Amino acid sequence: MKSLIPSARTAVGIVGAGPAGLLLSRLLRQSGVDCVVLEARDRAYVEQRQRAGVLEQSTVDVLRACGAGERLDREGLAHDGVELSWNRHRHRIDFPGLTGGKRVWVYAQTEVVKDLIELQLADAAPLLFEAPVGAVTGADTERPTIHYTYAGEQRELECDYVVGCDGYHGVTRQAIPDSELHTSERVYPYSWFGILADVAPSNDELVYAHSPRGFALLSMRSHTVSRLYLQVPNGTDPEAWSDERIWDELDARFAVDGAWKLARGPITQRAVLPLRSSVTEPMRWGRAFLAGDAAHIVPPTGAKGLNLAVADVTVLARAFAKLYADGDASGLDGYSDACLRRVWRAEQFSYFMTTTLHVDPAQSGFDTRLQLSQLDRIAASGHAAAELAENYVGDAL
Ligand code: FAD
Ligand code: DHB
Repeated sequence: MKSLIPSARTAVGIVGAGPAGLLLSRLLRQSGVDCVVLEARDRAYVEQRQRAGVLEQSTVDVLRACGAGERLDREGLAHDGVELSWNRHRHRIDFPGLTGGKRVWVYAQTEVVKDLIELQLADAAPLLFEAPVGAVTGADTERPTIHYTYAGEQRELECDYVVGCDGYHGVTRQAIPDSELHTSERVYPYSWFGILADVAPSNDELVYAHSPRGFALLSMRSHTVSRLYLQVPNGTDPEAWSDERIWDELDARFAVDGAWKLARGPITQRAVLPLRSSVTEPMRWGRAFLAGDAAHIVPPTGAKGLNLAVADVTVLARAFAKLYADGDASGLDGYSDACLRRVWRAEQFSYFMTTTLHVDPAQSGFDTRLQLSQLDRIAASGHAAAELAENYVGDAL
């Protein structure tokens, strides 16, 4: 077998093989730019990590254009709307009708990651699993260097540029002096309890539910697997809830007048996820770049995290292609500003969805009436519904 160890030098060193790192590598290779991806965890772990499920049109376009759309086109579920639920009734948001024809796809992040890894490996692209990066040095020099461990050996990868696609807890950000970065952050007083269940989704479209007992979301992974979320207090132990308690709570929060019923099935996975909004800016310093969760986190209510990661690396890959083809660095110089405009829009929308649909433990009856008034407004006004729909389906890239 060909040695997996990359040479000690590359054009773009990528830290992290989540969606951001894998897609960046794919796009760079298609432009003929040399790159290496280093990932701390093993392949199975990266492929099975349950996370996002909704892809915007622009994300699907990028995946198709880079050759990662084949299974997505076969197995992904096109969705033309979502439903909002409050006061025991539902209101449908019609995406194509409100946005001039746009829609979204339900296709799990796990599957996007599997597809990208398969393409990388088929292409013999340098991608090392179980290769944790300890540090990135020299971000302000001509030769930034990634220090990593592989097969028990300390190694160095010298690069023209380093891109941190290493998520919220990544190390690349530490290559940038604190004084050069500004982080704006908000932590929410609740978490999401997410489950996967072997049961056909009880609704054809996603349901975002406001209820006096807290938020709930009905989503899906396929025609036979449901993905559901419950708002829970921070620090909730998922193992402390019986299956029956989870289904009873979901039942109570999705309750509507009429005959609709939530179907139950075996719960195969469960996890609790804290909610946070965070943006670190600028997204570049010297020859170090940050992309995806390494630079920004959104609470998941707007389904934006994965889509933002894809947008960042698409902008960055175009900028590197311009640099290596024509010596034009303007794309790299504009990278941070270009991404941050989209990032802050998504931050505002995710904050809006989160605070409109969740029950803050400290909220008053007045606050609840404002939430319900906002939801009534979305049902009554095409403009208010279009504002939600436009943000949900996202902008072209
Ligand atoms: P990640 O997917 O976090 O990838 C970063 C990669 O870097 C990881 O593989 C990690 O192992 C690797 N790495 C980290 N440190 C190092 C190191 N030192 N050396 C080498 N490699 C390193 N979004 C939604 O829209 N809906 C959801 O339901 C949802 N659920 C989520 C649940 C969780 C638990 C989390 C953390 C996020 C969730 N998100 C969700 C957000 C969405 O999944 C992320 O926005 C998306 O994964 C971002 O991709 P990324 O490639 O930037 O980062
Ligand atoms: C899913 C996650 C989200 O955060 C969301 O807003 C919609 C769907 C999901 O995991 O399916």
